[in-house]
Amino acid sequence: MKTKFLSDTIEDIRVGAEIIAGGGLTAFPTETVYGLGADALNPEAVAKVYAAKGRPSDNPMIVHISSKDDLSKLTPRVTADMEKLMEAFWPGPMTMIVPRLPVVPDVTTGGLETVGVRMPGHPAALELIRLSGCPIAAPSANLSGRPSPTTAAHVIEDLAGRIDAIICSGDCQVGIESSVIDMTADMPMILRPGIITKEDFERVLRKPVALDPTLNKRPDMFNNEDFKPKAPGMKYKHYAPKAEMIIFEGEPEAARRAIEAESATREDAGQKVCLILFDGGEEREAAHDFFARLREADETGADVILAAALCEEGIGFSVMNRMLKSAGYNIRKV
Ligand code: TXA
Ligand code: MG
Repeated sequence: MKTKFLSDTIEDIRVGAEIIAGGGLTAFPTETVYGLGADALNPEAVAKVYAAKGRPSDNPMIVHISSKDDLSKLTPRVTADMEKLMEAFWPGPMTMIVPRLPVVPDVTTGGLETVGVRMPGHPAALELIRLSGCPIAAPSANLSGRPSPTTAAHVIEDLAGRIDAIICSGDCQVGIESSVIDMTADMPMILRPGIITKEDFERVLRKPVALDPTLNKRPDMFNNEDFKPKAPGMKYKHYAPKAEMIIFEGEPEAARRAIEAESATREDAGQKVCLILFDGGEEREAAHDFFARLREADETGADVILAAALCEEGIGFSVMNRMLKSAGYNIRKV
């Protein structure tokens, strides 16, 4: 398939929108990561997304809308809590899991009776949804298992030749995917942490918010019968670079020394080493850079990536969620 490379001008966005309206696939920028879009209400179009990504079909898609009013077209009842979250965080990096109306096809929700909905904060994304005239189902625009794409070049690398068009724009500001919050139970529950944190949600809702307990689980999870995250996508091996990756966890100074020692040993053995070290207190920057750093490591032919763990609080917790998965939970305590 020949992929059209589009810019983010209104004329080009219109071309991308026509492709989506006609049942095709257009990748587009959002403020979190690039998404691979299809008409969310067209089952054949959504099926093509799974095929292009090589994604397991029980992993549901997030449905993107361009106005808060569109939520009520996808779910039977918009609660006061949903209103509060929309008011505070949309347009922006938050996905709400809500009961679905029958108009949302099974293939979009992976057969679940709920649907994830988000109004993204990127102007090109909002324009694309508006011009398509339909809600857009969009997972991250990477091959399944690869790091999420935060630049147009990443999307091209993974999906050129597999989809109809790519709207190429700048780097994604946030760099990690949206916070996913399940609003279907009495107590809202975070299924995927993002830059909107548990504390942010609790402040706006003025009540406690739960964390999916699997978010705090560590090794052996992939063979563990108890490991059943509520967001199907959280159970897959994810974000994996080609290189081996080790996370060093401990006091920052000790971790740095251990990384330097390991790096020297590896280089002596003729290996190419890549370091991922973020400064404490720079969690937003870490979120912005993390996926791009994984892809850079692969590009430079690294044999091993040595990374320092971040403090697992606030946004640090969300970045660590990705880092642990990309390393396959290969942790060295120092
Ligand atoms: O920032 C983002 O959310 C990006 C951009 C493109 O918007 N999208 C994204 O989509 O990250 P994806 O498909 O890579 O991740 C969606 C996550 C998966 O873990 C999926 O299992 C979960 O959300 N999810 C979607 N619908 C769900 C539902 N109804 N119930 C539980 N989890 C759901
Ligand atoms: Mg993804």
